[in-house]
Amino acid sequence: MIVARTRAELAAARARLADPVGAVLTMGGLHDGHTALLRAARRECASVVATRFVNPTQFENEQDAASYPGDEVADLDRFAAEAVDVAFVPPAHEVYAPGVAAEVGAGRLGTVLEGASRPGHFDGVATVVALLLDLTRPARSYFGQKDWQQTRVVRQVVEDLALGVTVRVVRTVRDDTGLALGTRNERLSDEGRRAARVIHRGLRAAADAWQHGERQADRLERAMRRELESEPGVSVDYAVAREPLALDALDPEASAVALLVAAWVEGVRLIDNLVIGDGLIDIDPAPLLAAPAPSGGPSASA
Ligand code: PAJ
Repeated sequence: MIVARTRAELAAARARLADPVGAVLTMGGLHDGHTALLRAARRECASVVATRFVNPTQFENEQDAASYPGDEVADLDRFAAEAVDVAFVPPAHEVYAPGVAAEVGAGRLGTVLEGASRPGHFDGVATVVALLLDLTRPARSYFGQKDWQQTRVVRQVVEDLALGVTVRVVRTVRDDTGLALGTRNERLSDEGRRAARVIHRGLRAAADAWQHGERQADRLERAMRRELESEPGVSVDYAVAREPLALDALDPEASAVALLVAAWVEGVRLIDNLVIGDGLIDIDPAPLLAAPAPSGGPSASA
């Protein structure tokens, strides 16, 4: 595995990779959710580029970005174990050239739900994703359902800027209690992790109602809240049922739904969702995670 720390090193390594290239963008603090993305890329592409960059522009303040969990050595080990060809691990000034002024906006999608609670967050995501995709020039890129709204923003950026990258969405990886894996889960105590399980239960309650024919957003939302509010350790920011693509209000005739929750547990903001409908999620991680670690694609042995 080549570890590139500058744009020039990345460009040199990228030029030698066999196409098609798959890209997995991360902020480190890697867990099996990231592993699923890396394995999906490894399966579908001749070469894999993974990035590890804690993007300052998507955090509310510097302190938040500086305290983001993650250990570079452990993360690079995981990239290597998953047969990544090139790891791009840049310092901030290699991503944002000094004096940089251009930004990519996330538009309306960036102002609802997570965007309403974290103003500017998705503009930061849109900008860094555009930059990292431009620098790595993949044919395909892999994103997790865990951040459903982010996948919608990324698809919009890729289309609006005609980046020519296929976006592939991998279903959320959960632990055996149903809790979605997340880098921030590390900050929870055992008691916090136990309380946080209610998030998946709330989502499931609404999904059950949906399967029984419920199409009224307020009733689906009430089903989530009833469950969520049974857990005093969890305070809900939002628990909503939306149309999955634009995240608009749910139509009562809808054939698909995104159920989305954000909640605070022990001061940690957690998000999760369930998306029901045909063709919205591309890849099931279970068989990928059950298989042994890959030994490398064509380019690894070239
Ligand atoms: P990060 O939180 O490190 O996540 C990197 C990718 O892993 C994202 O696509 C995310 O959705 C996916 N992921 C995280 N947890 C997952 C889980 N439990 N199951 C499946 N996929 C999961 O998302 C970001 O970084 C950043 O915003 C980034 C896109 C890198 C831009 O800075």
